Amino acid sequence: MTDYIIAIDQGTTSTRAIVFDHSGSIVSTGQLEHDQIFPKAGWVEHDPKQIWDNTREVIGQALSKANITRHNVKAVGITNQRETAVVWDKNTGEPVYNAIVWQDTRTQAIVDRLSEDGGAERFKDTVGLPLSTYFAGTKIVWILENVEGARERAEAGDLLFGTTDTWVLWNLTGGVDGGVHATDVTNASRTLFMDLETLEWRDDILEVFGVPKSMLPAIKSSSEIYGTVHTSSLLREVPVAGILGDQQAATFGQAAFDAGEAKNTYGTGNFLIFNTGTEIVKSKNGLLTTLGYKLGDAEPHYALEGSIAVTGSLVQWLRDNLGLIKSAPEIEELAATVEDNGGAYFVPAFSGLFAPYWRSDARGALVGLTRYVNKGHIARAALEATAFQTKEVLDAVNADSGVPLTELKVDGGMIANNLLMQFQADILDVPVVRPVVAETTALGAAYAAGLAVGYWADLDELRANWQEDSRWTPDLDSAERDRLYRNWKKAVTKTMDWVD
Ligand code: G3P
Repeated sequence: MTDYIIAIDQGTTSTRAIVFDHSGSIVSTGQLEHDQIFPKAGWVEHDPKQIWDNTREVIGQALSKANITRHNVKAVGITNQRETAVVWDKNTGEPVYNAIVWQDTRTQAIVDRLSEDGGAERFKDTVGLPLSTYFAGTKIVWILENVEGARERAEAGDLLFGTTDTWVLWNLTGGVDGGVHATDVTNASRTLFMDLETLEWRDDILEVFGVPKSMLPAIKSSSEIYGTVHTSSLLREVPVAGILGDQQAATFGQAAFDAGEAKNTYGTGNFLIFNTGTEIVKSKNGLLTTLGYKLGDAEPHYALEGSIAVTGSLVQWLRDNLGLIKSAPEIEELAATVEDNGGAYFVPAFSGLFAPYWRSDARGALVGLTRYVNKGHIARAALEATAFQTKEVLDAVNADSGVPLTELKVDGGMIANNLLMQFQADILDVPVVRPVVAETTALGAAYAAGLAVGYWADLDELRANWQEDSRWTPDLDSAERDRLYRNWKKAVTKTMDWVD
């Protein structure tokens, strides 16, 4: 009987279950999108119940497509959209509010209030992050302050918090019937509450935020058996043995295990992660310090991260809000109808600007317009925005590490776009490389789970699975590259100081 690992990827737009075999190849996939709820400008929510229902369903889809049962599954790995906060009642399993998504900027006033004493970087040395609407901690505060009765119930010990890994794990392992309330170090490192050195929650920071510690999950490694799946599930009694936030999972799935290795994921946002090994590197250039992974009792690996809030979601916005294209892949065709951006630059600061600026008050800008500009140029400007933002982040990584990256490993949905990948190589002036298994996020979670149960022996075995699929090499004159990037930088300055 052949054995497999199943990974659950609870992402921003959809939830997937993917069955992997021992070579790290995909055997089958189940996938369902969930609703994106935008109650007000800047607010983004998901329904946690819908996410859990979808999780169950996609597991069923993946198992039946692979024509296997739980008896063929050695372990389950979980990976997830990070920072998205769910708060629920541990006695009923009912969320007290929708999940507040990482892109949501409603907590700006909380950020400002917390920054009054010591500025936005007051905890950065300890937790690796500036105060920002992006991270889960401020979202918990919002729920405690705005959902009727939430604070009292939290203080009475009835409410639990989790990012969506924790929400899925708790439900998968039984929910009100003994569900495991835990997370891994990578997800914990995105709350603003975890000490990077001790890997424990900081009581003093929790006190400043007013968040009761009883709400928080236990912090575990990224690869160990957290519990087994409850008897009510198709996967009953299978161990859940890996958890990694999706960006760290993609790094792991790219086999970027060692210091100096990096990857860039092109999803709803872009996230460049640079492995710094067992060393905690503090950024001087607007990057986050975050956990890379921790395998069982072994020493943790740390990383520098350049997070970009809006890349693929700009293409969705052009499709859904403007009707410029009917499907996301059409953006490439439309962009290819023109030679260049026609002078247009699109800075999609829809959730403020993340790295390297960390300006929650920024808002999107489309500049350089003349009557010459047509929808092809706008499509092109939208794609170029992803590449320019990545350059800003890569420059910061190179400055912090002192050793410039010589090539960039990429993954995520947008890497199917050749025009973007070529422009990315051109603007970075380094080759861009795509692996054969581009589903590196789910693969990373599968690897973490498989290592914990001995399905894979060690990292060398995983490294051997990585294979190059395609490579884009730079082909742009340096004067032109500099001109484009200079203009981009000017465009960025137009996004600031909008919010009264
Ligand atoms: O930090 C947010 C990130 O984890 C979301 O990733 O792939 O769901 O857009 P994705």
